[in-house]
Amino acid sequence: MAHTGTHSQPVRACLLLVVVSVWVQQVDGVWPLPQQLDQSADRNSLSPQRFSFTYGRDSAAQTGCSVLDAAFKRYFSIIFPDFTKGSENGLQYMWSEPQPFVVSVSVKTRGCDGYPDEDSDESYNLSVSEGQAVLRSVTVWGALRGLESFSQLVYQDDYGSYFINKTEIVDFPRFAFRGLLLDTSRHYLPLHAILKTLDAMAYSKFNVFHWHIVDDPSFPYQSRTFPDLSNKGAFHPFTHVYTQSDVMRVIEHARMRGIRVIPEFDSPGHTQSWGKGQPNLLTPCYKGDVPSGSFGPVDPTVDTTYKFMESLLKEVKFVFPDSYVHLGGDEVSFACWQSNPNVRTFMEKMGFGKDFTKLESFYMESIMNMTAALNRTSIVWQDVFDYHERIPQDTVLEIWKGETYQAELSRMTKAGHRVLLSAPWYINHISYGQDWRNSYAVQPQNFSGTEEQKKLVIGGEVAMWGEYVDATNLNPRLWPRACAAAERLWSDEEKTLNADLAFPRLEKFRCELLRRGIQAEPLFVGHCKHEYDGL
Ligand SMILES: *[C@@H]1O[C@H](CO)[C@@H](O)[C@H](O)[C@H]1NC(C)=O
Ligand SMILES: *[C@@H]1O[C@H](CO)[C@@H](O)[C@H](O)[C@H]1NC(C)=O
Ligand SMILES: *[C@@H]1O[C@H](CO)[C@@H](O)[C@H](O)[C@H]1NC(C)=O
Ligand SMILES: *[C@@H]1O[C@H](CO)[C@@H](O)[C@H](O)[C@H]1NC(C)=O
Ligand SMILES: *[C@@H]1O[C@H](CO)[C@@H](O)[C@H](O)[C@H]1NC(C)=O
Repeated sequence: MAHTGTHSQPVRACLLLVVVSVWVQQVDGVWPLPQQLDQSADRNSLSPQRFSFTYGRDSAAQTGCSVLDAAFKRYFSIIFPDFTKGSENGLQYMWSEPQPFVVSVSVKTRGCDGYPDEDSDESYNLSVSEGQAVLRSVTVWGALRGLESFSQLVYQDDYGSYFINKTEIVDFPRFAFRGLLLDTSRHYLPLHAILKTLDAMAYSKFNVFHWHIVDDPSFPYQSRTFPDLSNKGAFHPFTHVYTQSDVMRVIEHARMRGIRVIPEFDSPGHTQSWGKGQPNLLTPCYKGDVPSGSFGPVDPTVDTTYKFMESLLKEVKFVFPDSYVHLGGDEVSFACWQSNPNVRTFMEKMGFGKDFTKLESFYMESIMNMTAALNRTSIVWQDVFDYHERIPQDTVLEIWKGETYQAELSRMTKAGHRVLLSAPWYINHISYGQDWRNSYAVQPQNFSGTEEQKKLVIGGEVAMWGEYVDATNLNPRLWPRACAAAERLWSDEEKTLNADLAFPRLEKFRCELLRRGIQAEPLFVGHCKHEYDGL
């Protein structure tokens, strides 16, 4: 940063403008920014003793609704942390009689026991007036989003009293799919780290946890059908695995926060760890006429591979309730297939010539067909499209490759496919400075194409690949950097184009994350009222 003292007059004028907009922006203290938000300077005081959540009389959900009962409990503690910690100084409430404040929640459809899915309505309206707030939504998932916004509107003055201003919000997400990828193969992430990530995701209104659960380095998923996969393929068969009950906890923790869990079982590449517990699955590589002892991608030429994949996918369908499953399909190296005489014979028989992309196509098409037969929607990485494969029309394509993603968005949507954008949000890559601004500048629908094509972009994903990430640095690397994409995917682009205007609101939100116990790294020089205390 330059020293402002050396700046010339026009620059000063500019700074003044920034200061003014900072002040205006503080009014919009919700991250991600709601579609419509009107706040006034009419202030209500709140006190934990006289505060309650309740179900509206016309609400389809009433007491006993698992998702909302739990959310009321959670948000009470979030809004009144001092009170919950028992260190509340009761004195402050003796100066004035505390006024009652009631948050009344009404949802149109019950659905308290279901799971959020691709077509879940997350819209909500929130109206805060004297002594009450009225939150209306179509589903319980929308109510969760509204409770989150409500919690961000409450603030404390220097004496510790709580306030909320009169506010009107009409809100809904811009994109239905707002994902975050964690990689639990390159490093094992303990269960608590995953659960905490889900908490923080809900604060930013992310709604999909893309669980890249297995890969080359390790296979921590403990399969009921194929226990040897983790027995032999995990870093450790007892300490570095996700048991069935661990997976159920993740899915339930996510459900309670309106988050879908989509597992990725990436094949035919990225499967070295699978081979340890499943003999004859991987292709033996050859050196000349003899096997070299090393293995390549899944062997797409033998029936046993497809029988295995079908059993595994059946189990995945049974364990993971979401209607989507990620099948990977990226970065397949052809060298090993090429070296293997059986594979070459198979290529000839199938008429693939020497084009190994055809072999990969054949494999992926079989797996996608299998998934469709199980009534699940496949997501695959962009490689599968780049190979010109026949792809079932409802398959979702995910873009991960670098700088040319606009052209890829154009091509994929032109072919009529739904698309997820991840390439500009690989935030495992770090650099000095405020790199959240790059994430914030992304315009997912700014590519050449028709309006129909633009609608095929269903959302995007922040990716946190695990080469250099484990539970020691996961949270500071994710937060608040992931929040930039969260706002891009939720909010109106027109209202959120300017990162300088967003900055003070993001700073405030980052402080709020600290207050909630998320170890979010600093954005720049400054301080928070409640610093992270390491406890
Ligand atoms: C809330 O009301 C107070 C007191 O009237 C006012 O000073 C403040 O600017 C308002 N805050 C917002 C976010 O509108
Ligand atoms: C929220 O308000 C908008 C605009 O007034 C209205 O169209 C919509 O139906 C409302 N949604 C709910 C869930 O009440
Ligand atoms: C297939 O899945 C959809 C939604 O995921 C569900 O509504 C439908 O009932 C399922 N069909 C069958 C035959 O299971
Ligand atoms: C996948 O299903 C389509 C449509 O039923 C079929 O034409 C195609 O041959 C199948 N592909 C493979 C590799 O089984
Ligand atoms: C879309 O992107 C192009 C080039 O990247 C840029 O020049 C243009 O201003 C962007 N459009 C909008 C509406 O911001």
